[in-house]
Amino acid sequence: MKILVTGGCGFIGSAVVRHLINTTDHSVVNLDSMTYAATHGSVASVADDSRYAHVTCDIRDREALAEVFETHRPDGVMHLAAESHVDRSIEGPQAFIETNVLGTFNLLELGRHHEVERFHHISTDEVFGSLTMDAAAFTESSPYDPRSPYSASKASSDHLVRAWGETFDLPVVVTNCSNNYGPFQFPEKMMPLMIIRAAAGESLPVYGKGENVRDWLFVEDHASALCLVFDQGRLGDTYNVGGDSEKSNLDVVHAICDQVDAALGAQDRRNLIEFVRDRPGHDLRYAVDFSKLHNELGWSPSVTFDEGLAQTVAWYLANDAWWGPLQKGGATSRRG
Ligand SMILES: NC(=O)c1ccc[n+]([C@@H]2O[C@H](COP(=O)([O-])OP(=O)(O)OC[C@H]3O[C@@H](n4cnc5c(N)ncnc54)[C@H](O)[C@@H]3O)[C@@H](O)[C@H]2O)c1
Repeated sequence: MKILVTGGCGFIGSAVVRHLINTTDHSVVNLDSMTYAATHGSVASVADDSRYAHVTCDIRDREALAEVFETHRPDGVMHLAAESHVDRSIEGPQAFIETNVLGTFNLLELGRHHEVERFHHISTDEVFGSLTMDAAAFTESSPYDPRSPYSASKASSDHLVRAWGETFDLPVVVTNCSNNYGPFQFPEKMMPLMIIRAAAGESLPVYGKGENVRDWLFVEDHASALCLVFDQGRLGDTYNVGGDSEKSNLDVVHAICDQVDAALGAQDRRNLIEFVRDRPGHDLRYAVDFSKLHNELGWSPSVTFDEGLAQTVAWYLANDAWWGPLQKGGATSRRG
């Protein structure tokens, strides 16, 4: 199939593009508007493949998007393009509504018009809201309860996708995943921010008391799950993707400090941790039950949290040529 991957120069999208080119026979049209969060470097390893093409296009621009569909005639869509940083959605929600809601609407309309065979929408566990510490993990039937402008915009887009499936018979499939980590994540996000700042001996700003819990999913595992669902997922259905690695933010930062100490020589970097004023409406806990994906399609994560973190720390320590220029733009001075 020829797959239109939106947001393929971002963190997860680039892992999907690399996975598609390296492990399948599909060809890829990587559509990205190249926002601050996109880099060509994240797909450089596959960019010369004859099955790869890049198009710079903004999904908010229906006419430009129509031209891409007309020119490339994709058989399927994997839709990852989004504004994705919760802090930015609090500072300026408009772009989140325009890209995540209206951009998704544009893609659905063009997917319908061109009769694509599959439309895979990639979403987040944050649409389900916040869990108490002892509550059961989110399942595919958990009620929607988004609490930030980011998660509300993603929830809206999920509803649109399902409505286009029901109403117009668009062959849709939706996945909702937990927090991703791994190579090529923009350095304003918590995991790379902490690795880079710990390596430089800078303070490590942790929200509140660091007690918020997330389920951490290694991005390469997520990419393999997405390609599996795209190929074999039941149309009209939804699958959760999780990493089976629930950790508090403080546990994650401790683990990063210990691994950076081990790699660069011990300095007890845990002493660099500084607790800062909490994010407004900060969800306490997300946890994802992915047993449906496991039971129906046989997927499970290939790495433990410690293994994935070791790969991630090693990657950031070796690849300042990728993140250094982004850091100069101020990405690692934000709070994690
Ligand atoms: N990172 C996570 O932990 C996580 C967790 C759950 C779900 N998700 C979802 O996965 C998807 C990818 O997330 P990510 O972390 O890779 O995000 P990212 O911010 O790293 O990448 C998003 C990409 O989309 C592109 N983009 C943004 N607006 C666009 C527009 N208007 N037109 C075309 N391209 C545009 C950006 O340039 C960027 O390359 C998103 O839909 C996000 O909601 C991410």
